[in-house]
Amino acid sequence: MHSDNKLWPESHDLTKESLAEGVMLLRAFCREDAPLIYSAVQKVDSVSPFRQMIVPSGHTMSVAMTNTGTFGWTTDRQGYRYTTVDPATGQPWLQMPEILFSLARRAAEAAHFPHFVPNSCLINRYSTRARLSLHQDKNEEDYTQPIVSVSLGLPATFLLGTLRRSETPRRIRIEHGDVLVWGGPARLIFHGVAPIAAGTHPLTGAFRINLTFRHVAEPH
Ligand code: SIN
Ligand code: FE2
Repeated sequence: MHSDNKLWPESHDLTKESLAEGVMLLRAFCREDAPLIYSAVQKVDSVSPFRQMIVPSGHTMSVAMTNTGTFGWTTDRQGYRYTTVDPATGQPWLQMPEILFSLARRAAEAAHFPHFVPNSCLINRYSTRARLSLHQDKNEEDYTQPIVSVSLGLPATFLLGTLRRSETPRRIRIEHGDVLVWGGPARLIFHGVAPIAAGTHPLTGAFRINLTFRHVAEPH
């Protein structure tokens, strides 16, 4: 039964749940810091505004994206890549705010991945019906460090696959303040996000915000 005095219905308590080898769900890990994290996201948006990118097939993504950190993930007709300059502004991505860097490190450590040094943070903004199809995060060219995925705002159904695309993914409900970490043997799992249901969140309004922290190999 749910009590009425919660900030958001169905909020979980702070727990650590191993979903698979190398996959750890930290429920409510950043719920208290959420307003500060969201302020940092707004600052990033003011430098490099959220935009819907085009994938090589020519399709426009339903998710709007921006980045902070040394490297930012982008896509256009030519393909997926990491850049140090935002193609939309011609300026470097905003340096990663300290609050985001330290959050990602703490989450990785809690999930038994010490020494995580994120140099890239992709920020996804989902409006109603936005979705992300099943994919692997593999443009980083360094799979020794984990992925730390922080979620704010509207809830989502995360599609947790395996190393094989053909296997049906598990459906995991992810809520405001939850952090999911995957790495080691799970670093290249297939994953995605089911279409977001309409709603309003007290902090983010009509959106779900997701931040994924990565370590991208320096160009060689
Ligand atoms: C991603 O795979 O880039 C984002 C996952 C999410 O939004 O939860
Ligand atoms: Fe991803």
